[in-house]
Amino acid sequence: MEADFNDFLKKYPAGRRENLIPILQDIQDTHGYIPEPAVAAIAEYLEIPAVKIFSVATFYNEFRFNPGGKYHFQVCQGIGCQVDGSERIRAELSRLLEIRPGEISGDGWFSMEWVPCLGVCQEAPVLSVNGEFYPKMTPSRLKELIEKLRNH
Ligand code: FES
Repeated sequence: MEADFNDFLKKYPAGRRENLIPILQDIQDTHGYIPEPAVAAIAEYLEIPAVKIFSVATFYNEFRFNPGGKYHFQVCQGIGCQVDGSERIRAELSRLLEIRPGEISGDGWFSMEWVPCLGVCQEAPVLSVNGEFYPKMTPSRLKELIEKLRNH
């Protein structure tokens, strides 16, 4: 699999570290997450230690290192969102999908995680689905959103 990523990386110039984020985005768009062999291939290609890649990628909430569901929910657990009820959103999401943070629903459609501040605190509480923000989320809007995604 690492060889596949070597081919994938050839569209970027070798050794150019400034391409790390675009490469990670490209791989996640293609695979839905960043597989471990991809990290090893990027490390070699850009001449960056793998540990540095993990640390840069985890700084950005958008990157995942495990496969998620078709729809991946990120519930903000930043202070602003907590004050405005993100725990209620997380609890309702768990109830509706029957999963906890870090899990994937049995049908493979949904996964969820708690993430640090998503950077749009004025819209709290914020939910992100596959990178798209849903501001000022409420339990009833969440239910509608899940029904919409299920019927999509
Ligand atoms: S605290 Fe949730 S977006 Fe900042």
